[in-house]
Amino acid sequence: MARHFLRDDDLSPAEQAEVLDLAEAMKKDRYGYRPFEGPQTVAVLFDKPSTRTRISFAVGVAELGGNPLIMDLGTSQMGRGEPIEDTARVLDRQCSAIVWRTAGQERVEAMASASRVPVVNALTDEFHPCQVLADLLTVRERRGGLPGVTLAYFGDGANNMAHSYLLGGATAGMHVRIATPEAYTPAPEVVEKAGRIAAGTGGSVEVLTDPLAAAASADVLATDTWISMGHDGKDARVAALSPYQLNANLLALAAPGAIVLHCLPAYRGLEISADVLDGPRSAVWDEAENRLHAQKALLHWLVTR
Ligand code: CP
Ligand code: NVA
Repeated sequence: MARHFLRDDDLSPAEQAEVLDLAEAMKKDRYGYRPFEGPQTVAVLFDKPSTRTRISFAVGVAELGGNPLIMDLGTSQMGRGEPIEDTARVLDRQCSAIVWRTAGQERVEAMASASRVPVVNALTDEFHPCQVLADLLTVRERRGGLPGVTLAYFGDGANNMAHSYLLGGATAGMHVRIATPEAYTPAPEVVEKAGRIAAGTGGSVEVLTDPLAAAASADVLATDTWISMGHDGKDARVAALSPYQLNANLLALAAPGAIVLHCLPAYRGLEISADVLDGPRSAVWDEAENRLHAQKALLHWLVTR
């Protein structure tokens, strides 16, 4: 049975640490790991736009000795209604792994259910676990470790990044705070699961409406777009989420040396002020590069176990 990575809690705390250790080692020896030598092919499929994910998987699979097959599914037969499971049965006879960015989480689950090779979630409406692996790698590099580190996220608490910070951060033993209005609160199932994981790792999870309380003494401040792919109602979202802008006022409340994360693309002046995004506490370009290292390690770990 192939192992899949569809949500952050698909890796146990020990497995997540193993993948992050491997990412650190692979970053130091960038061309030294070649599980796809042959070359084997990895399918990298998109139902939504992407810059970082497309680049980092294309570069990463090539650096692992393989061939990335990048497809926009609108141009495939799936775009005309061919079932997900039938597509999986075609792909898994020719590819060593399947990476997919799509809408509903149930779609990656359907792909995984019919695939004999690992399926990796490259973003769904509900989760963005590859991004959070890269973010955890960045926090480890900047703060020296993850357990006990406090990460505060501001903005849309119901989106993929908020959910993945909850699950991935709890798995890492971090204290995760989500600052968001009532109407944008994370899915209860995710908060509950993250709480259970945190109880075993020494971490904690909190959902707050007060952004100032969330920022207080936090080691990592994070945000994401207020209008994710597939969302509409921009004006209402901007009005509701404006008090949660990640700006110098929030940064001033954080721990000394706190870092700022944003998965990008960023909208300066909306979810984050330009001075913070482009300022000295920002780790966003390391974070974007770490997509490459984290995903190479994840693929290596999935296909060699
Ligand atoms: N952060 C992220 O996933 O970026 P892209 O949408 O550009 O892939
Ligand atoms: N929450 C954002 C993340 C983009 C990488 C979205 O889903 O559009």
